Amino acid sequence: MVKINFRDTAAYYGAEPGGGAPTKVKITFVDSHGQARTVEGEVGSTVMETARRNDIPEIAAECGGACACATCHVYVDSAWSEKTGKASQMEEDMLDFAFDVQPNSRLCCQITVRPELDGLIVKTPLQQG
Ligand code: FES
Repeated sequence: MVKINFRDTAAYYGAEPGGGAPTKVKITFVDSHGQARTVEGEVGSTVMETARRNDIPEIAAECGGACACATCHVYVDSAWSEKTGKASQMEEDMLDFAFDVQPNSRLCCQITVRPELDGLIVKTPLQQG
């Protein structure tokens, strides 16, 4: 007899049982050559973890998300900057070590995937660190 776990099925389709908020969102990473890759990110993880799980190039994330390396630098698309929010002071301090920092620069290990970020677009810089 096959036992179906509804919770797993709901997660597969990106929704909580009973029609709650989605558990997965689409995130598009555009590399420094303009190639776009759209992948699924799990709500509650970070944009950096999503990148690493999906072998997105140009995101080294050497410190593993501890906000201590600045090798997960991305440019948040202007349409999404309000929803992703501003960098914390600690993140701002670490961004001082990133290459070609711009007003829309963020460290993607500091961006938590949330349902409202479905469709998020970030660009990766030509060089990290
Ligand atoms: Fe090191 Fe983000 S992974 S600062």
